[in-house]
Amino acid sequence: MNRCVIGLQWGDEGKGKVVDILAEDSDIVVRYNGGANAGHTVVVGSEKFALHLLPSGAVRPETACVVTNAVVIDPETIIEEIEGLKRRGISLDNRLFISENAHIVLDYHKTEDRLREESLGKNKIGTTIRGIGPCSADKVGRSYAVRMGDLRDLVELEAKLKVILEYKNRIFTSLYNAELIDASAIFEKCKSYAEKLLPFTLDTTEYLHTALGRGKSILFEGAQGTLLDIDHGTFPFVTSSNASVLGMPAGSGVPAKAVDEFIGVAKAYTTRVGEGPFPSELDDEIGQYIRDKGHEYGTTTGRPRRCGWFDAVVVGYSVALGAIDSVALMHVDTLAGLNELKVCIGYEIDGKRTTFFPANIARLAKAKCIYETLPGWKEDITGASDFSELPVNARNYVMLVEKSVKAPVRMVGVGPNRRQTIFRDVSR
Ligand code: GDP
Ligand code: IMO
Ligand code: MG
Repeated sequence: MNRCVIGLQWGDEGKGKVVDILAEDSDIVVRYNGGANAGHTVVVGSEKFALHLLPSGAVRPETACVVTNAVVIDPETIIEEIEGLKRRGISLDNRLFISENAHIVLDYHKTEDRLREESLGKNKIGTTIRGIGPCSADKVGRSYAVRMGDLRDLVELEAKLKVILEYKNRIFTSLYNAELIDASAIFEKCKSYAEKLLPFTLDTTEYLHTALGRGKSILFEGAQGTLLDIDHGTFPFVTSSNASVLGMPAGSGVPAKAVDEFIGVAKAYTTRVGEGPFPSELDDEIGQYIRDKGHEYGTTTGRPRRCGWFDAVVVGYSVALGAIDSVALMHVDTLAGLNELKVCIGYEIDGKRTTFFPANIARLAKAKCIYETLPGWKEDITGASDFSELPVNARNYVMLVEKSVKAPVRMVGVGPNRRQTIFRDVSR
């Protein structure tokens, strides 16, 4: 059984938790897109892990972890994660495999990300400043790209870095009046990256196809969410990779056909960090209630997340793009205590109603939500282990979500711990 977990909103839906749960029955967990912009939280008992580049399966010592070609790798972050887990008694030796064709985020990418955002002022994207955009631009531009496999030939890499830094420094100094970046300092860091990371580096496409041939069970872990997809999200307020289901085959080298089940993760409300239109945003005390109760502060940057009502137009779009088989609805517990709950079931744009999400932000910015309102519930549901134990209003809420996004909700999150998850046996 091969499965793929995908974010259905603007990221931070609770993918880390869902992957951690499903990893129990998987031999291999694969990260195939994004980079250290991701922050995936796994809570096991009283222990909390925040992972940026390692697949969330990393916390299970018996699970193989693969980081494929389309992940832009910040070597410092992944080394820190490997060493951090080791300090907590979890070794990645002989079970972590990093693609030799993955591109590397170097210091100058992070510098460029920051300089560009600063110079854009109020027009900024609100990136995580992890160098994702600049590294991805170098990947597509090809001439100045550095990949994991380049760490194998240090003589060649030193020469390459000189050429790259000459080009980058010209841009940084003339456009941003920034300080020069020393190619030899970057090269010295690369020597240490080579020593620490090459033991994990190989052809992950071959590794995964061999595993498929042996009948291993593979779990693909998407980063970000469908609305942050570079091609189908709310451009330009998106990330630089295909964060929808479409990124899985390109990002891993495994055909989508090999996946038996696509599981979409959504929160019972909506959040986003960074700039960009957000039709169901709650800029009021209800939004603040959700932010406080749901601890909605970024795992990667600590920024407060913008909060709003559940938007079924958004999630329905992601379900349709990804042919999503089932939904994991997280954070249902967070909504307890609100008198009434709203679900956005359509938009009105220029006087016309639509239920199809407009990814064009000029149109999206004009969208007014059409809501269906339900009564809330007061009870704390964090101890519930069966759907029948939930208050009737919570059950009705979940059922309205699945009806309006046209996919069954098979997992219901009632708390951050891996055990605080209710499984439902519902079909399409
Ligand atoms: P990801 O990026 O999709 O992996 O999500 P993040 O880890 O960035 O953010 C999700 C946050 O919600 C984390 O702090 C999780 O521990 C927490 N979380 C996940 N599921 C639930 C849930 O059902 N209820 C509550 N209260 N917290 C949850
Ligand atoms: P996970 O995997 C939420 C957002 C940033 C910004 C935009 C572009 O934890 O769900 P970038 O640094 O990628 O150039 O920033 O994308 N963003 C995320 N938001 N969760 C994430 O990942 C995100 N990764 C990027 O906040 O708006
Ligand atoms: Mg996150």
